[in-house]
Amino acid sequence: MIPVCHLADLPAGESVRLDTAPPIAVFNADGELYAIDDTCTHQDASLADGWLEGCLVECPLHAASFDLRTGAPVCLPARRPVRTHSVTVEDGMVYVHLTAEEGTAA
Ligand code: FES
Repeated sequence: MIPVCHLADLPAGESVRLDTAPPIAVFNADGELYAIDDTCTHQDASLADGWLEGCLVECPLHAASFDLRTGAPVCLPARRPVRTHSVTVEDGMVYVHLTAEEGTAA
């Protein structure tokens, strides 16, 4: 469980990038919190720097969009999904619970 920030520091429409390995992006999409791997699966762009619209984030480099609920790309040029992670809020703090990489233990 990785502490992210106070919930008050992540208002709707904003994102936070965690310098974990791999980096994680946490979004507040109209009050719902989502966490995904930060690096676009097309090339090397930070999705935390992208544009948030509803449950979609648009990559700032070539405009692929990812669904924050599933990690799936909804348009080209990205073809592979980003990994999603669960997010909880405890005592006003936001936490990310990492999903294991494929083939590794959690
Ligand atoms: S790096 Fe994200 S769409 Fe190209």
